[in-house]
Amino acid sequence: MNNKTINTSNQNSNNNNNNKILVTGGVGYIGSHTCIELIAAGYDVVVYDNLSNSNLEALKRTEQIAGKSIPFIEGDVLDKQLLHQVFDEHDFFGVIHFAGLKAVGESVAEPLKYYKNNVTGTLELLEVMQAHNVKNFVFSSSATVYAEEETSPIDESAGRSCTSPYGQSKLMVEYILEDLVVSDPEWSTVSLRYFNPVGAHPSGMIGEDPRGVPNNLMPYISQVAVGKLDKLKIFGSDYKTIDGTGVRDYIHVVDLARGHVAALNLIKKHTNIGSLGFEAINLGTGKGTSVLQLVKAFEISTQQVVRFQLTERRPGDIDAYYGNAEKARQLLGWQAELTIVDMCKDSWHWQSLNPNGYR
Ligand code: NAD
Ligand code: UFG
Repeated sequence: MNNKTINTSNQNSNNNNNNKILVTGGVGYIGSHTCIELIAAGYDVVVYDNLSNSNLEALKRTEQIAGKSIPFIEGDVLDKQLLHQVFDEHDFFGVIHFAGLKAVGESVAEPLKYYKNNVTGTLELLEVMQAHNVKNFVFSSSATVYAEEETSPIDESAGRSCTSPYGQSKLMVEYILEDLVVSDPEWSTVSLRYFNPVGAHPSGMIGEDPRGVPNNLMPYISQVAVGKLDKLKIFGSDYKTIDGTGVRDYIHVVDLARGHVAALNLIKKHTNIGSLGFEAINLGTGKGTSVLQLVKAFEISTQQVVRFQLTERRPGDIDAYYGNAEKARQLLGWQAELTIVDMCKDSWHWQSLNPNGYR
C-alpha cells in the first residue's frame, strides 16, 4: 500500500521546494491560528486532527479568515495506517505537530493516556515521516520543561525537569528528537517552548474554547467578564513578586503562530546548507505580568469589570517565570509584537462574540 515509502528518487524531501505542510492538531487553538499565518506566508496546509478537543466550526472559520479551503483529515496520530495513507497522497515539506493533550491536572490523574497520546503518538508520526523521507519537524513544546529552580528570564540552556506527566511527555519528545537527529543528520527539528499563549484572532472568529470550567487564567477572566462565571479566584497573593500574585510570560496566539512560520522558514533556509539538527527555541515576550496586572489591563482595555477574590495558592504553581526571547530574535528573526492590551482586547472580542465558544 505504501508505495511512496520506497523513495525511488532517493532524494530527501528536505531538499525539495515543496510548500506543503501537515499540521497535526490544526483544528485546535494554536493550530488554527497557525494555519492562517502559514497560508498568509504562502504555505499549503493539510490539517490532521481527531477532534478530541476541538470543533470543526473552528476549521470552517479558519478557512473563511484565510480565504482558502484547507484539506482536512479526521484522524488520530496513533493511527499509523491512516498517517501512511496521508503521506502517500501528499508530498509534504514538513510537519508542525500540535496534536496532543494539554491539561496538567488531567495528566496527573490519567498519566497513561497522556504518555500514549503525546509520546507514542509522536513516535508513530516520526516513524511515518521517516519512512516517507519527510524530515522537517516543528514540535509544540512548553516552558513547563524548565526546572522549577531556574531563574527568569529563562534561556534555552536552562536545566530541564518536570513534575507532571504532561510536562514529562513534552520533555520525552525533546529527548527523542535529540537522539533522532544524531542517528540521522538529515532531520531538521525545532522544539518551540511556548510560554503562556493567550488572546485570539483579531476578527473575533476563532479563539480558545476550553471545555468546562477553564483552568487557565485568561479564559477564566473572559468568562467572568461575560457573566458565565461568578468571580476569578486569584491563586496566591503572597508570592515574592511585584504585587504578591503569580507572574507569567503571556504571549498573543497570533505572535505565537507567526513564530511557527519563522521556524519553518529557518528549516527552509538550512536545507541549502545542510539540516538543522535539533533546536529548542523559546516563544515568549521576555516580559513577566502578574495576575493582578493582567486583570487590571483587561478591565481598562475592555471596560469590563472582573470580579475577583484572593485565595490560597494553587498546588504546583511557582511564583514567577518568563522567557529569554533572544534566541528566537537571532535565529528566527522573530519577536512578539502584540501587547498585553492586544491580548486582553482580542480575548474579550472572541469571548463576547462567542459566549459559548464554537457551540
Ligand atoms: P488544543 O487542545 O486546542 O489543540 C490540540 C489539537 O490536537 C486539538 O484539536 C485536538 O483535537 C487534537 N488532538 C489531540 N490529540 C490528538 C491525536 N491523538 N490525534 C490527532 N489529533 C489530536 O491545544 P492547543 O492549546 O492548541 O495546544 C497545541 C499544542 O501546544 C499541544 O501539543 C499543547 O500541549 C502545546 N502547548 C499548549 C500550551 C497552551 O497553553 N495552550 C502551552 C504549551 C504547549
Ligand atoms: N491563576 C489564577 N486563577 C485561575 C487560573 C490561574 O490565579 O483561575 C494564576 C496561576 O496561579 C498563575 C497564572 O494565573 O499564577 C497563570 O496560570 P495558568 O493556569 O493560566 O498558566 P500556568 O502558567 O499555570 O500553566 C500554563 C499552561 C500549562 C503549561 C505552562 C507552561 O496551562 O499547560 O503554562 O507552559 F505547562
